[in-house]
Amino acid sequence: MKDLIEAIKQLKEEKHALIMAHYYQQGAIQDIADYVGDSLALAQWAAKTEAPIIVMCGVHFMGETAKVLCPDKKVLVPDMAAGCSLADSCPADEFARFVAEHPDHTVISYVNTTAAVKAVTDVVVTSTNARQIVESFPKDEKIIFGPDRNLGSYINAITGREMLLWNGACHVHEQFSVEKIIELKKQYPEAIVLAHPECKSVVLKLADVVGSTAALLKYAVAHPEKSYIVATESGILHEMQKKCPNTQFIPAPPNDSTCGCNECNFMRLNTLQKLYDCLKNESPEIHVDPAVAEKAVKPIQRMLEISAKLGL
Ligand code: 13P
Repeated sequence: MKDLIEAIKQLKEEKHALIMAHYYQQGAIQDIADYVGDSLALAQWAAKTEAPIIVMCGVHFMGETAKVLCPDKKVLVPDMAAGCSLADSCPADEFARFVAEHPDHTVISYVNTTAAVKAVTDVVVTSTNARQIVESFPKDEKIIFGPDRNLGSYINAITGREMLLWNGACHVHEQFSVEKIIELKKQYPEAIVLAHPECKSVVLKLADVVGSTAALLKYAVAHPEKSYIVATESGILHEMQKKCPNTQFIPAPPNDSTCGCNECNFMRLNTLQKLYDCLKNESPEIHVDPAVAEKAVKPIQRMLEISAKLGL
């Protein structure tokens, strides 16, 4: 393990590569990355880096977003099979048909989508900036929001909008058990419930704080004296525990505790060995059809510009 970590560091230096990791990656990968962040931060860092090689330790759409932003760079992902159930719940051809059926609607897409979906989108959002970007449009703007119905319903509820929602969801966030969270709240009455807006509304109703991975982390870091029940993919507990070593973090359990499904099986496909192999072989590499990338980059850039103006 120690040798593997040293070998990765050495290869990274030799190739001037940048390793980025999402908070849902296994701890060892987060620890070796140059940057660890939420989906917005990963896109922001990709847009800024001078490194010729980016290794995106996350899922496929994160690599695609980096590639669309940096077409001249080599973007690698340790395991090409690291997909996303939410992105899969929104096939590009079906979404394009839905968009075509509503020509008077502005299209807002969550970053958890393929480049082909982004290509028919007006502006991309992440959970960090979704509310502000939706609110940057006039109250009577007709909006399609895809693909996450839970995030979309949550934004509708807090902004008073009636965006038309695509019926997609994340298989991990759909799984949290209301009953088990209520039991945990009884057991730990002082604990603050942190929940990601990809969770179902019944779970969000139990939450004290709803936010992106970065927002939930920030809250915990600001209040380390509290204890927390965390309803999002359990990889985030690594950084939470690192930043708040004396704080108790309890992962919210899924409906079926035997399935371990508060862990994203796609995110966990990436391993240190695969990270080493992909740096060594410069493969697997993300490719995006240049015609698709040319269209997809616009709504991503728009998101980055609005976020920069909002100081996000
Ligand atoms: P954030 O890290 O942007 O909150 O998103 C979580 C997620 O769904 C990653 O796939």
